[in-house]
Amino acid sequence: MAKVAVLGHGVVGSGVVELFEKNRNSIEAKAGQPMEVKYILDIRDFPDLPYSDKFTKDFNQILNDEEVSVVAEVMGGLSPAFEYVKSLLEKGKSVVTSNKELVAAKGAELLRIAREHNVNFFFEASVGGGIPIIRPMHQCLAANQISEVAGILNGTTNFILTKMIQEQMDFDEALELAQQLGYAERNPAADVEGQDTCRKICILASLAYGKHVYPNNVYTEGITNLTLEDVAYAEDWGGVIKLIGRAKRLDEGKLTVTVFPAFIGKHSQLANIDDVFNGILIRGDATGDVVFYGRGAGKFPTASAVVADMIDAAKANTTSKSLNWEDSTENQVADYRTIAYPFYLRIRSDNPEQLEKKIHAAMLDSVFLSRRQQPQEELAVVTPAMDDYQLEKVLKEVLDNNDSILGKIRVLDY
Ligand code: HSE
Repeated sequence: MAKVAVLGHGVVGSGVVELFEKNRNSIEAKAGQPMEVKYILDIRDFPDLPYSDKFTKDFNQILNDEEVSVVAEVMGGLSPAFEYVKSLLEKGKSVVTSNKELVAAKGAELLRIAREHNVNFFFEASVGGGIPIIRPMHQCLAANQISEVAGILNGTTNFILTKMIQEQMDFDEALELAQQLGYAERNPAADVEGQDTCRKICILASLAYGKHVYPNNVYTEGITNLTLEDVAYAEDWGGVIKLIGRAKRLDEGKLTVTVFPAFIGKHSQLANIDDVFNGILIRGDATGDVVFYGRGAGKFPTASAVVADMIDAAKANTTSKSLNWEDSTENQVADYRTIAYPFYLRIRSDNPEQLEKKIHAAMLDSVFLSRRQQPQEELAVVTPAMDDYQLEKVLKEVLDNNDSILGKIRVLDY
């Protein structure tokens, strides 16, 4: 018999308990033993639920109950989630979580504590919601050297970009719709400024390359500056704009880990992942590209991953050796400005014809773009691949004082 507790009864927490009760027979069959939710921790009262008797406001009741062997942390945020999870692991209880902020900031430390106490710390729900990605990466793809991981990891921004691309809504209008539909939070900063994607790519990069990648070492650019003009030029180029979290091993042993909106060719598998869906591409030396697709957020998709981890934790009688990475004090992430990409540039110029000639002379393989209702003074181009420093140097040569850059977006090839 495994007795479990759930910390938090918000959207995901209530989904976990409801899914657990709904599919209890098959869940117990898969766990090979009876399972029971013994406690739900929340500061609020829920007097009218069929399982109201399980609620407690006292964390120590769960911590000190020796019958509880598995705890799901679905509160979110760093504190008190970190202190709770740490003390539960130290007490010898396995913990599963959907909290990407916690895993991205404290994953190495919590994995170490779990190992030291011979229990598990699982977090399948922290990336990609209901999409299986953590376990496939560290188990099913274990024989591969992973050269690259790239994904659309945030449903809210993907919904906004889809509305901009398919319905020509501008950013503000699309964000408002996302808020009305309950996808975007009232304060949408973590989504639209890219931090949510950053946390998720840090988790995937740490798992793929074995050392903790911290969010503050990752260049993170959101989607707030994108315009319908950029979307139109991307279409003329033959693609779409997507917010991509990306981790890649470089030849010299370092990694590039970044979050930015990018031009993606329309035949790319990532280009066709729309609305609130997520997609994650993993490039293995044996498998080639493997793409995972599905619902990256929401009550039951996320609960699905949390409950699966609870089942695994109940079954496990030893710690997972493959779900592990080391802490790292040195920054293994290369300066993003030294990585070469083609750049899309939208430039306002008093003399665009002359500017086009200068750009052509300086960067022979440049591709010039056009859009409907393009103003006389506007020029759009995709440059050959170069790093930020090279681009800055070329622009200094070709731009006049009055010219201004209205848009700058990297191009990725998937
Ligand atoms: N705000 C996140 C998203 C929720 O939109 O994808 C899941 O992490």
